[in-house]
Amino acid sequence: MPIPDRYHITTFGCQMNKADSERMAGILEDMGMTWEENPLEADLVLYNTCSIRDSAEQKVYSYLGKQAKRKQKNPNVTLVMAGCVAQQEGEALLRRVPELDLIMGPQHANRLQDLLEQVFQGHQVVATEAIHILEDITKPRRDSAITAWVNVIYGCNERCTYCVVPGVRGIEQSRTPEAIRAEMEDVACQGFKEVTLLGQNIDAYGRDLPGSTAEGRHQHTLTDLLYFVHDVPGIERIRFATSHPRYFTERLIKACAELPKVCEHFHIPFQSGNNDILKAMARGYTQEKYRRIIDKVRHYLPDAAITADAIVAFPGETEAQFQDTLKLVEDIGFDLVNTAAYSPRPGTPAATWENQLSEDVKVDRLQRLNHLMSAKAAERSHRYGDRTEAILVEGVNPKDPTQVMGRTRSNRLTFFTGDIDQLRAQTVDVRITEVRPFSLTGVALVPSQT
Ligand code: SAH
Ligand code: SF4
Ligand code: F3S
Repeated sequence: MPIPDRYHITTFGCQMNKADSERMAGILEDMGMTWEENPLEADLVLYNTCSIRDSAEQKVYSYLGKQAKRKQKNPNVTLVMAGCVAQQEGEALLRRVPELDLIMGPQHANRLQDLLEQVFQGHQVVATEAIHILEDITKPRRDSAITAWVNVIYGCNERCTYCVVPGVRGIEQSRTPEAIRAEMEDVACQGFKEVTLLGQNIDAYGRDLPGSTAEGRHQHTLTDLLYFVHDVPGIERIRFATSHPRYFTERLIKACAELPKVCEHFHIPFQSGNNDILKAMARGYTQEKYRRIIDKVRHYLPDAAITADAIVAFPGETEAQFQDTLKLVEDIGFDLVNTAAYSPRPGTPAATWENQLSEDVKVDRLQRLNHLMSAKAAERSHRYGDRTEAILVEGVNPKDPTQVMGRTRSNRLTFFTGDIDQLRAQTVDVRITEVRPFSLTGVALVPSQT
């Protein structure tokens, strides 16, 4: 098989997958390939898949179907399926789509070159065994030139009863603080201004690394990591996600309050506002504990943005239990909640339970929660009215080329009139003049010339 010239990657799912795709793109470019926007023109097509809900999984099969037909006419096309569906289905995919050349789980992302070389020698390759994730040697081809993802911990050791992630991403593997800092220094040298530290359960960072302090505390916690990396020159903003209420600490909040580059934004999924449902989900906390965490955050950082994820219509959820979720959203006032109706997933305990709810209940509860969530987000946005916010400019407003867009430290998308060539990667003080539930518009404050 000839070595492909032009590659295309379509990415589904979370930030972890986006970060993996950027690293895989870097590997393909190192191998001499160039980006092709149109998946039907590319010589190598890679789908980096997500399995979190059935809808995400089904989408990729329809894309793959088209590529399989194309490959029947043009056998030189290389078809790769990576990510979480690839890991979940493994060899079974070869029966479903025999045209696939390579099936590779997320732990194998850094091995893409190695795996492709086997493909070019004429093999059909399946790489889904659990491995120790190799430290990155390739430069990612990052989508943004301003904000970069940096993995800090791979995998997840939790066993939430609805979730495929532990099955497809494997056990927790933390990178060393030195490797993380080195990557941050590297992206800073390339001109990046913001780093988001990534982990499915980022509060678990470091517990698999050796070493503990004299007091017996683990030496490498997320909090220690923030202190270790916060002064990387050139990086102006540091974010992290996703926090787990079970392991979230007051020490972490204090570090965020103390370290000027760490942004005032916490993404802490609660999933449900009802204790019996939380227990059935095996989340390991109560709604009371969740509320105490938010109180603590607001004690140290009153203006912090708080975002979360929630699932409605988990097996057995009663109307009254769902009301507890509405109540939590009403009381806390989130800046954003990513909502989803429960989707039974292969290999997870909750999928085998008999008390599944109907599609009608799912749709109804999702709509009601979304409605409340947007209303609360709109209320939260009002606090920005007439305020001056520091906006890190990332690009042009796709809907209005006379405007640039960027984010507040709290992660609200903000638009204002300006020239991208002058403002890209700059932090600009912007007076907010218009507020919408999930975005803001403002006017740049020009520093006085006198
Ligand atoms: N590690 C994060 C979330 C990872 S998955 C955490 O622990 O919160 C991202 C979100 O997808 C979850 O927060 C959850 O709200 C949603 N999700 C996961 N599995 C789901 C399922 N089977 N059905 C519906 N939503 C699901
Ligand atoms: Fe899934 Fe739970 Fe792990 Fe989050 S903490 S990735 S929801 S198992
Ligand atoms: Fe999806 Fe895998 Fe992320 S299942 S949400 S891409 S970890």
